[in-house]
Amino acid sequence: MNETFLHACKGLKTPYTPVWIMRQAGRYLPAYQQVRAKVDFLTLCKTPELSAEVTIQPVEILKVDSAILFSDILIPLEPMGIKLHFSETKGPIIENPVRSASDIDRLVEFDMRECLPFVAKTIEILVSALKVPLIGFCGAPFTLATYMIEGASSKNFIHTKRLMFSEPQVFHRLLDKITKMTTAYLHFQIEAGVHAVQIFDSWAGALSPEDYRTFALPYVQRLVQRCKAKVPVIYFAFGASAMLKDVANAGADVYGIDWRVSLSDAVKYIGEDARLQGNLDPCVLFGSTETIKQKVKETLQSAKTAQSHIFNLGHGILPETPYQNAISLVQMVHEYSSC
Ligand code: CP3
Repeated sequence: MNETFLHACKGLKTPYTPVWIMRQAGRYLPAYQQVRAKVDFLTLCKTPELSAEVTIQPVEILKVDSAILFSDILIPLEPMGIKLHFSETKGPIIENPVRSASDIDRLVEFDMRECLPFVAKTIEILVSALKVPLIGFCGAPFTLATYMIEGASSKNFIHTKRLMFSEPQVFHRLLDKITKMTTAYLHFQIEAGVHAVQIFDSWAGALSPEDYRTFALPYVQRLVQRCKAKVPVIYFAFGASAMLKDVANAGADVYGIDWRVSLSDAVKYIGEDARLQGNLDPCVLFGSTETIKQKVKETLQSAKTAQSHIFNLGHGILPETPYQNAISLVQMVHEYSSC
């Protein structure tokens, strides 16, 4: 197996900077669209042969240094009792959002093997097929709570913050339940064979630093603590560049960084032993080849003070991205970082 990505997770020097792309399996790839034309998104996630196929596509097409399990952070909410579907235009929709103490009490503690067998099966197929490491993942407790409470993606998080600021103890109870679930979920993926895990805290940036320390960070710390002895843990708090000093207390092996802060400044906040992942603005891939080259070089240069660097975008690749530019990006990272 090509272990460059795992070596960088451990802070070791690598002969070149490993690269993968968040949402690398997705609609910008014609090969993905062909599979998606036949099945809806949830069916794709729940059919091991298909979800393994689309996981492998970007590894073969882009030549990235790691694969990420094709699934979604919302998949393990269904067995908790959440009724979920994905709208082609609006993204995820939850029919029965969680808004009160009694809604929280009704959430089901479930058995992973029994309710999510397709996740383990997909991982097993992938581990024997792939020659690069496989990343498993989950949503961070706060981010999953926002989806459960809002029932969809949100702009102002009014329902979430109403509960948070009017009944904080109830909100903590929800976060506690989600943390137990995500801990079991990551262990389940690790047992099935993933080589690293990433925790996606996509909405951390909706919180003030004080509220982040109260409602997000402690639960991420618990989750990281319970997984990190087994595999490297990457924590990606999107939109949280103004709170990196707090984010750095999560205890993760690697920190994902968005494009709103330079990697060299991120090292100043996180410390000299920082192992960073990121952080090219996904929209750079809409630019000219010359601009992409220049930005890749700048990003590699900015990462020089970090202990190690895994190249990635600062958020998921967008569906409209010309996929040839993603192929070029991976080539450029490999070429310009080779020693
Ligand atoms: O990175 C990968 O290639 C692995 C697969 C993956 C998906 N979602 C596939 C997906 C991963 C790691 C995720 C994580 C995820 N899901 C996050 C965290 C990352 C982030 O973007 O901040 C979040 C917030 C979600 C929830 C979610 N899923 C939303 C908001 C949407 C709709 C927006 C969109 O892009 O359509 C999804 C759907 C989704 N998840 C798609 C894919 C490929 C598109 C579904 C399709 O094919 O129609």
